[in-house]
Amino acid sequence: MLQVRPRRAWSVADTYWSEYLISRAMAGTTASRRTMMRAVQYDKYGGGAQGLKHVEVPIPKPKKGEVLIKMEAASINQVDWKFQSGIARPFMPKKFPFIPVCELSGEVVELGSGVSGFKVGDKVIANSFPDGGGLAEYAVAKASRTAPRPPDVSAADGACLPIAAVTALVALRTAGLSLDFAAGAGEPKKNVLVTAASGGVGHFAAQLAALAGAHVTATCGARNLSLATDILAADEAIDYASPDGAAVRSPSGRLYDAVVHCAPAPVPWKVFDRVLAGGGGAVGVVVDLTPGAAAFATAARQRVTFARKRLVPLIVSPAREEMEVVAGLVAEGKIKAVIDSRYPLSRAEEGWAKSMAGHVTGKIVVEIGEDE
Ligand SMILES: NC(=O)c1ccc[n+]([C@@H]2O[C@H](COP(=O)([O-])OP(=O)(O)OC[C@H]3O[C@@H](n4cnc5c(N)ncnc54)[C@H](OP(=O)(O)O)[C@@H]3O)[C@@H](O)[C@H]2O)c1
Repeated sequence: MLQVRPRRAWSVADTYWSEYLISRAMAGTTASRRTMMRAVQYDKYGGGAQGLKHVEVPIPKPKKGEVLIKMEAASINQVDWKFQSGIARPFMPKKFPFIPVCELSGEVVELGSGVSGFKVGDKVIANSFPDGGGLAEYAVAKASRTAPRPPDVSAADGACLPIAAVTALVALRTAGLSLDFAAGAGEPKKNVLVTAASGGVGHFAAQLAALAGAHVTATCGARNLSLATDILAADEAIDYASPDGAAVRSPSGRLYDAVVHCAPAPVPWKVFDRVLAGGGGAVGVVVDLTPGAAAFATAARQRVTFARKRLVPLIVSPAREEMEVVAGLVAEGKIKAVIDSRYPLSRAEEGWAKSMAGHVTGKIVVEIGEDE
């Protein structure tokens, strides 16, 4: 016999939750019918991990030339919390509240006008620097900064590539390495130093330099010396806290043709000068990825004096072609993303705090989905 339960009054809370549950149920079918999403944002400078707030906000609409991505994973970079600390004040963030993180990995669910080359359902990686948006269930990115994610590249691995791996690739190209891996075979072997080879950018730089046929010297903490040689394919590794590490001196006595300087601590030019190749027509280049005022001054002085040893301050603006190169190399198993730790979106602040502490090995990934 059919039991009829007594009805209770319908409340505002019931309406809110039924709408929320319906919108969750429709997630993944069509983003356009769901209007709200979970996100993590901050609303003022400072505050670190405790300044991050979990909120429900409207799903963004892709504008002309943009795609809307249903996020599967994002990766935190130092620049994310440096923006929060006010390093680019008052230009970045452009406005508050701000949803941070610019390395995106997920599925295209909507195309803005004028977008070609992508369709709904494509798995992609994207770089939304400096607009952020990655700590959310949906994020927009320019189609020109979005690349297909090959089937063999997981969402988490894909999230490590758009900034970290691309920065490593561009830094090595800037330093004069041929990263046309097929054509580079005939070149003389270059000696390359990668500082902070255990970090997000450095672990890709070491692998890419080795793949390009260079002799690679890595600096890292003592706990990561074997990671550098055994996993990242560096030929030699130095503990940055040792005297040789402080002098960035190659254990095998080599002078470097190229340095990719990823370590957050500035190294005085005279330290690099002693270990760079520069005689007999050689040109030693240091690509500085965290350039301060001193680095820009040194670079300007070297330009006007036509110095053979050069410091090149570099801020990378990753493009689609570069994302395709690194995603292809991961898919082929030629380089790998080392993931330090993974956090669900609901615990993104823990990944933020870990990145801020400065002792990440590889990358920090925030995973986003129905199941977390
Ligand atoms: N210019 C650009 O376009 C661009 C793009 C991306 C990143 N960046 C910058 O590049 C730098 C590196 O970024 P990231 O994501 O690779 O950083 P990260 O992952 O946070 O780097 C952490 C790693 O650096 C190591 N480390 C710390 N101090 C070191 C030192 N003095 N010598 C050698 N290793 C050291 C740490 O080792 P321990 O844990 O053992 O201490 C840790 O493994 C940051 O300053 C970032 O802002 C620039």
